[in-house]
Amino acid sequence: MLDRVRQIGEEARDAFAAARDEQALENARVRYLGRKSELNLMSRGLGELAPEERKKIGRATNELKNELAALLEAARERIEKGAAVAALDLTLPGRLPWVGRKHVITRTLERLEEIFRTLGFEIAIGPHIEDDFHNFDALNIPADHPARDMHDTFFIEGGKLLRTHTSPVQIRVMQSRKPPVRIIAPGRVYRNEASDASHSAEFYQMEGLYVDRNVRVGELKGVLTKFLHELYGEDVGVRFRAGFFPFTEPSTEVDVECRVCRGKGCSVCSGTGWVELLGAGMVDPRVFEAVGYDPDVYSGYAFGLGVDRICMMLTGTDDIRLFLENDLRFLDRV
Ligand code: PHE
Repeated sequence: MLDRVRQIGEEARDAFAAARDEQALENARVRYLGRKSELNLMSRGLGELAPEERKKIGRATNELKNELAALLEAARERIEKGAAVAALDLTLPGRLPWVGRKHVITRTLERLEEIFRTLGFEIAIGPHIEDDFHNFDALNIPADHPARDMHDTFFIEGGKLLRTHTSPVQIRVMQSRKPPVRIIAPGRVYRNEASDASHSAEFYQMEGLYVDRNVRVGELKGVLTKFLHELYGEDVGVRFRAGFFPFTEPSTEVDVECRVCRGKGCSVCSGTGWVELLGAGMVDPRVFEAVGYDPDVYSGYAFGLGVDRICMMLTGTDDIRLFLENDLRFLDRV
């Protein structure tokens, strides 16, 4: 009988080692450790044996059962791991790591800066917290001027305010140096107004200013047309309309043909086929007086670009609020 136990042990070890899948292992388990297995029947029949035999055979069957139980467990782990390895398809392409990048407004600003750099402009930066003088008075917008109503202003403590446009940077630059001056001033501006798809309380402008002797309207028109052609292509329609700004005279508002619908009319251009991208004009003599430039000697032009609008047109975005919501599903796409 002991020989038989040994024999079962050998067979069972081989069977567990040879099992390649769960089904084969289960078959081996039933066969060698199951309720009706030879080994189990042997232990159940121990009572019928003589005491000496019972002890010997009992120990042998118990030891074998324990050994086989451990082998079964080991075989089970081996098969599970094998299944996991088989499920790992090494020919699949890997998952790309998520890589951050510059915000679409930053990329737009850099593009605009690059175009103006090639046109001879340098970059000037001014504070976001401004005072009445730089944001309004020096720009020929006195306290009772109706234009102040158009700039819904965030006032803050100490008589300060959040700049409503980048034009105060013109004033700061002219106060700090003599002509010729040829600058652009990009940055964020603030208006205290309700936001919707085309309005945001915070948005971006880029100011431009060129002052020298004998600067003429034709140069303004030429530089802006050149800029818009660089940005949108030579074939884009450009339209100069008469406009009004207290700090320029004459003034103009410049539209380009909507690039989202190619002039057909869409939600970005409110169905008109045109998008207003900038305000511009010849610097008003009152502004030169405010900064101590002699208006009889110098002339110049200024312009202010709506950077968000340009970005909307470049990316086909129809809601300005998306730029500051920081939703990666949007930012990853544009
Ligand atoms: N500052 C004006 C605005 O915010 C834009 C502008 C700038 C117009 C320079 C003319 C010249 O609306």
